[in-house]
Amino acid sequence: SLIMKGSINTIGVLVPNVSESFFGTFVEGVQQVARQEKLIPLIFSANREPKLEQEYLEQMVERSIDGLIIASARMTTEMINQALSNRDIPYILFDRNYDQQGARVLTDDYHGGQLAAQHLLALGHTKMLFLGVKNITENFKQRMAGFQETINAQEINFDEDHNLLKADLSKDGGYQMARPVIESGATAVFTANDEVAIGLMRGLREQGVRVPEDISVIGYDDIILDEYVYPQLTTIHQPIFKLGVGATEILLNKINHPDAEPEQVEHFPVKLIARQSTGKCQ
Ligand code: RIB
Repeated sequence: SLIMKGSINTIGVLVPNVSESFFGTFVEGVQQVARQEKLIPLIFSANREPKLEQEYLEQMVERSIDGLIIASARMTTEMINQALSNRDIPYILFDRNYDQQGARVLTDDYHGGQLAAQHLLALGHTKMLFLGVKNITENFKQRMAGFQETINAQEINFDEDHNLLKADLSKDGGYQMARPVIESGATAVFTANDEVAIGLMRGLREQGVRVPEDISVIGYDDIILDEYVYPQLTTIHQPIFKLGVGATEILLNKINHPDAEPEQVEHFPVKLIARQSTGKCQ
């Protein structure tokens, strides 16, 4: 076992929202390692409320956990250290939070954006949108940058003033944006994540817009729902379960070797999964 004998084998996992299947699948990955290593994972979902996140962190410290995985965009390392009362509890940041040097898991969000653009360009689209989010974090910025630069390289105009809309990061957020998306005249939309894409597709359908005949939609993540919505969602796959496994292994390594140099950041690949929500520009 990786963990030292005699320690209390508990790790805390703080996610923004467990009802999102992205974080559910991530936690399953964490649990797989936890079971093998006989650790108890404490899962906290903070509903994106910074105050609650802070409270949970403090509670975890009081329960003397051995390490932490924090998937929260709002907390800076300074806030985290404060919540940990500067105790030396190893933690790693995940996903939206880039505010950390050293060991962590990352996926190539920039490349994900490139893949989305290449796919839509190959289908003949020239009027494309990025349906981004209001509270933009580094991972979403990277997705947008990869998308934009790939399109601009084809000498097709794409800029923040004309090709960017912002939604709340949820199904309802996407749903609410159906009208602005239609009014933009775009024939293809790349969304910040799959939840937004799924909401958008419902909104488009209610407005009588066909996907993909009138507007193509491509999401991000490859959550399990994608195969069950109509039309099945084209997306950029992140290896979500493996990210949970990888993050937990890195954390255990930190717990067991506190003085080791931070190792290489582990990069996980992304790939295009072409399903039915994208089609030729008509
Ligand atoms: O809600 C899940 C999404 O937000 C994923 O794309 C993930 O990368 C996160 O930031």
